[in-house]
Amino acid sequence: MAELGTCELRLAKPADAALLARMSRDYIEQGTGWRWRTAPLKRKIAAPETVVLVAEVELAGVRFTGGFAVMDFELNKALLSLLAVHPNLRRQGVGSKLLRWLHKSARYAQCQHIELQVRADNHKARRFYQQLGYQEEALIPNYYNGKDAAYQLKLRLLDR
Ligand SMILES: CC(C)(COP(=O)(O)OP(=O)(O)OC[C@H]1O[C@@H](n2cnc3c(N)ncnc32)[C@H](O)[C@@H]1OP(=O)(O)O)[C@@H](O)C(=O)NCCC(=O)NCCS
Repeated sequence: MAELGTCELRLAKPADAALLARMSRDYIEQGTGWRWRTAPLKRKIAAPETVVLVAEVELAGVRFTGGFAVMDFELNKALLSLLAVHPNLRRQGVGSKLLRWLHKSARYAQCQHIELQVRADNHKARRFYQQLGYQEEALIPNYYNGKDAAYQLKLRLLDR
């Protein structure tokens, strides 16, 4: 695996929506139907209560968008709806960097916790969230497409 050069975070722009939609289709929504297409991602990028964060990386001299995350901010909590890192960049800290930035923002926004759902059979992502301090609160049967189970995960921000 080529070594990651730089990794810089920035807020997404409307022009990023089509690429982020393809990343969602290929890395997150496999087998569950493609819901996060260009138009809904454009709406998220424009929404004042949502942060769409992009990781711009450099790998073997080539710069590209290597990961992204979408977080919705509510009154007391934040919801992570999408997170993906390009397969060639995994286990190099990109996902953690995206989430740590969002954790800081959620604390700053005085959110008490962050919630997300992850497929029960996505053991890699479950390990990833676990090492960042998320706890598995509940198993929700038939969550995806009325058949696949999900875990509801929570990170309590005030304790940390
Ligand atoms: C989950 C995901 C975002 C992690 O991104 P990443 O950039 O690879 O994560 P990091 O490099 O920051 O990993 C940090 C730690 O998480 C854990 N972790 C990450 N990927 C793991 C894996 N495949 N297996 C076991 N532990 C893993 C490890 O403890 C890792 O630290 P280490 O590499 O020093 O052992 C990435 O694998 C991904 O895009 N997966 C597909 C999409 C997805 O499942 N999204 C989540 C849906 S809710």
